[in-house]
Amino acid sequence: MSLVYIVDDEPSIQRLLVHWLKNQWNYEVKAFGNGTDFLNAFKDAEPDLVILDIMLPDIDGIEILNEIKTRNVELPVIMISAQGSVEVALTAIKMGAYDYFTKPITQTDKLAQAVKNALKQYEIYKQLKFLKEDLIAKHSFDNIISTDERMREVFEMVSKVLDNDITVLIHGESGTGKELIARAIHFNGKRKENPFVVVNCASIPRELLESELFGHEKGSFTGAHQRKIGKFELAKGGTLFLDEIGEMEMSLQAKILRVIQEKEFERVGGNDVIKTDVRIISATNKDLKKAVINNQFREDLYYRLNSFPIFIPPLRERKNDIFVLTEHFIKKANEKLKRNVKGISKRALKLFYDYDWPGNVRELENTVERCVILTDKELIDVDVLPQQVKSGETSMLPVNGRNIFDERSPVIPFEKLKEEAIKHALKVTNGNIVDAARKLKIGRATLYRLMEKYNIKNN
Ligand SMILES: Nc1ncnc2c1ncn2[C@@H]1O[C@H](COP(=O)(O)OP(=O)(O)OP(=O)(O)O)[C@@H](O)[C@H]1O
Ligand SMILES: [Mg+2]
Repeated sequence: MSLVYIVDDEPSIQRLLVHWLKNQWNYEVKAFGNGTDFLNAFKDAEPDLVILDIMLPDIDGIEILNEIKTRNVELPVIMISAQGSVEVALTAIKMGAYDYFTKPITQTDKLAQAVKNALKQYEIYKQLKFLKEDLIAKHSFDNIISTDERMREVFEMVSKVLDNDITVLIHGESGTGKELIARAIHFNGKRKENPFVVVNCASIPRELLESELFGHEKGSFTGAHQRKIGKFELAKGGTLFLDEIGEMEMSLQAKILRVIQEKEFERVGGNDVIKTDVRIISATNKDLKKAVINNQFREDLYYRLNSFPIFIPPLRERKNDIFVLTEHFIKKANEKLKRNVKGISKRALKLFYDYDWPGNVRELENTVERCVILTDKELIDVDVLPQQVKSGETSMLPVNGRNIFDERSPVIPFEKLKEEAIKHALKVTNGNIVDAARKLKIGRATLYRLMEKYNIKNN
């Protein structure tokens, strides 16, 4: 139920207001006879509406309005003024009061309507605020799961670009989490209250991409029946995420370059110059440098976009993340599918670990979800794994010891696993460093470094 505060020093008016609001219109009401009492109560209360007299014995109503708006600019305030003080009432409206009524209040219908509308407007505002906060929470860093050292570097890079507008290019194979990182940058940065707009340059037909980005004027080409607002305009004040930028054709690349440099553009078929204030984050799973050498991507645009590169390593190069991500995705799938799968068996987990995950985190997420759907046991087991995961190459990592889904030890001792994996690889390759490194899918230099770190002798 909505809570209305009434501030008026005239007992007769106060009684009348309380009567209408509480007895007739069924709101919860609290009444105050002076400004000091109200302000004291207001400190730790959350009314949905304040009905405020301008002439109070202690503090000026306008001053109180100012206090209210300083604390919560959206909270509606209906002012009541004595006859003849219309000018003051207008000042109040300019300061953000919702409406005003003069004494004696005779138009009860109008007051009832104003109260209702003000409360409704405030309710909508609160809901939007909640949704926005929810959206921001969804894209907080807490939702990006990793225990990997190189991913920690990624987070560090991300934290450096949150509060500036530097153009970021995210490199990484398909499904590694490029969009997730782009969203995290936006929703944790200073533009988070403004839109995050995605354009997938690969999925939109070439001839339509330009108008998708810049919009078009009515009649600018066959089929342009109406003016269309482009993504650059929609993203105003926010972030434009250009996904798969490597697929954009050269002529359009030139136009993007111009927007980045001049911060302005025209709609297709239009003459008006439109100013933009958009942060650009782009992503690619292609080697853009190579595309530049092959004359498929403009060098100048490449350097512009790539002023701050972030590289997300593929999942097979951060295998320990498979454990934490699997656990995370089981929880997520349980919530989504209303299931209660407790974890994954050691055998199945070992196969997950051995598999290469060409589709990276996205593939892992889909696989886990599929397993949660298919299983009728408490733990995901080998029987529900997809064929390609089951037939993964022979395992080299003995996962013995603790169950990683044991409540008391949610995270496996990864360092120990790495050490085991290296020892095992050296053993089965008879100490051949080249073969062992290949088997572990790491570079030789890394292998040497890790052997030194774990004090592993090759004999
Ligand atoms: N570190 C992570 N923690 C949690 N979820 C992740 C992580 N990385 C990726 N995901 C999830 O994996 C899925 C794929 O991520 P995303 O769409 O960001 O990848 P992408 O690199 O943009 O892929 P593509 O190139 O296919 O568009 C998403 O559902 C995302 O939430
Ligand atoms: Mg993507």
